[in-house]
Amino acid sequence: MDLLEAIRARHSVRRYTPQPLPQEAVAALREEIEACNREYGVRLGIAVNEPTAFSGAMAHYGKFSGVRNYIILAGKPAPDLQERLGVCGARLALAAQMRGLNSCFVALTYKKRSVRKRTEEGAKTVCVLALGYGETQGVPHRSKPLSSLYRARSAPPEWFLRGMECAQLAPTAMNQQKFLFSLEGNTVTAAAKRGFYAKLDLGIAKYFFEVGAGKENFVWG
Ligand SMILES: Cc1cc2nc3c(=O)[nH]c(=O)nc-3n(C[C@H](O)[C@H](O)[C@H](O)COP(=O)(O)O)c2cc1C
Repeated sequence: MDLLEAIRARHSVRRYTPQPLPQEAVAALREEIEACNREYGVRLGIAVNEPTAFSGAMAHYGKFSGVRNYIILAGKPAPDLQERLGVCGARLALAAQMRGLNSCFVALTYKKRSVRKRTEEGAKTVCVLALGYGETQGVPHRSKPLSSLYRARSAPPEWFLRGMECAQLAPTAMNQQKFLFSLEGNTVTAAAKRGFYAKLDLGIAKYFFEVGAGKENFVWG
């Protein structure tokens, strides 16, 4: 499975089987985590075979079951931390999907205390990414029409539309899709509207866009 196929196959999964993560998958995810920590100045971590964060009432309320593995999306507080964590989370969700694993971003419905203990000192956990073998593969989310997710002065080129189709498939908190892309020449800008975790969503959508559009076709404004 390549990145584009992973984007199409990924849907949030909240119920997991007891099958453990294979060692090779954990090693590959650790490598990706280290690359993200270096490139984006964040402090991601991974918890493997750790059931406590998703064992309480919050996880039950959020309809999660069987979550024993998760990636901690954390970093030193900064105005652009959420967006950087969004890009890293997107990379990891797709890396997991390419290895046959399912995932779900979770900002609220987990036990914060369990994760705080596992977060590096000086870093703040913004969200976690639950991981494992899903009981199902999830279902495609309802989406706003593509035309409401971007602005362009004239008919956009193919590469831009391919990018937007991927951004439309990106997960967003409460499926709010509060982002707007704009095209001018070969410059693409993307902004978050007001909303809960909208900046984290923006980082995810930008990474998905980049995969669809091809980095060689445009520059970020
Ligand atoms: C930043 C972020 C936070 C999220 N937090 C939660 C959460 O606390 N609980 C939950 O059940 N789902 C959560 N989700 C999952 C979204 O509900 C889901 O991504 C969205 O409905 C789109 O569905 P999809 O991921 O299947 O495409 C979150 C997603 C994102 C991107």
